Amino acid sequence: MTITNSKEKQEDIKLDFTLRPQSFSEYIGQEKTKKNLRILIEAAKKRKEAIDHILLYGPAGLGKTTLSHIIAKEMGVNIKATSGPAIEKVGDLGSILTNLGNGDILFIDEIHRLNKTVEEVLYPAMEDYKLDIIVGKGPSARTLQLDLPKFTLIGATTKLGSLSNPLRNRFGIISRLDFYTPQEIGEIIRRSSRILGIDINEESVRSIANCSRQTPRVANRILKRVRDFAQIQNSNLINEEITNVALQMLEIDKFGLEPTDRHIIRTILDKFEGGPVGIQTIAAATAEEIQTIEDVYEPYLIQLGFLARTPRGRVVTKSGREHISAKEK
Ligand code: ADE
Repeated sequence: MTITNSKEKQEDIKLDFTLRPQSFSEYIGQEKTKKNLRILIEAAKKRKEAIDHILLYGPAGLGKTTLSHIIAKEMGVNIKATSGPAIEKVGDLGSILTNLGNGDILFIDEIHRLNKTVEEVLYPAMEDYKLDIIVGKGPSARTLQLDLPKFTLIGATTKLGSLSNPLRNRFGIISRLDFYTPQEIGEIIRRSSRILGIDINEESVRSIANCSRQTPRVANRILKRVRDFAQIQNSNLINEEITNVALQMLEIDKFGLEPTDRHIIRTILDKFEGGPVGIQTIAAATAEEIQTIEDVYEPYLIQLGFLARTPRGRVVTKSGREHISAKEK
């Protein structure tokens, strides 16, 4: 079972990679961000300089990592990808930075989760391309300064507000990624189907798009599962019947809510009279992690208008309550 699972998982990761757009022309949506980045890249290429540090923020699954790889490709430079929690010590960051080449890109996902000491080493690195290292301890400690290559930092975060001011101020461009329109998600589903080599009718595109939380990662994940259903039935066409059965089996409703989303709403309604209730209490009552609720579930529930954040905690809205009670009838 474990072996099958991990094989499936590897296959999924491979597919994710195949579905990822490799250039701005293949990348659907986020027009404003793409336009700004294209100008930035063209100007930097003309000046033969590294591009300014870039901060991308917005909900998970909207394409921050994908965009960073596209930027590296368009600039013709290498990219080293890591994440805030993975850089535990100053030495880890030092080793990454000293191994970069001129113009290379360092991509740090979840940059708001960098620890303070690591973050402080990043300031002079970003600003002056200098790395300060302390050698020795106590009164004999000395600071050595190393020159770093002229690199570009691309930071990605789901929480702009959790970034410290000094870090935020060192980015030349700060760009927000938005949820995708149903048309854009539809286009992504059609493109992914072509790459996966399966036909899909327009009704199915629409149904999957409606259930995709306006997020490409979710759309592609659902499409792959629906394709499994089509293949089991030896069909090379994804039609409404296959799509509906698959969505029902996956327990995804017409708003794209999955069992955990509904569980969160129902818990707030049943145990806390609809709120306001703090995120820690919700996490404890639903056995989900605070981070996961904040990054994965909550942004879309808020976007749908089913949940609201107030100074006193989270509240289920009237439409959230109506949706859940309609489902239970
Ligand atoms: N796959 C995932 N995100 C995409 C995007 N923005 N455009 C095209 N294909 C995608």
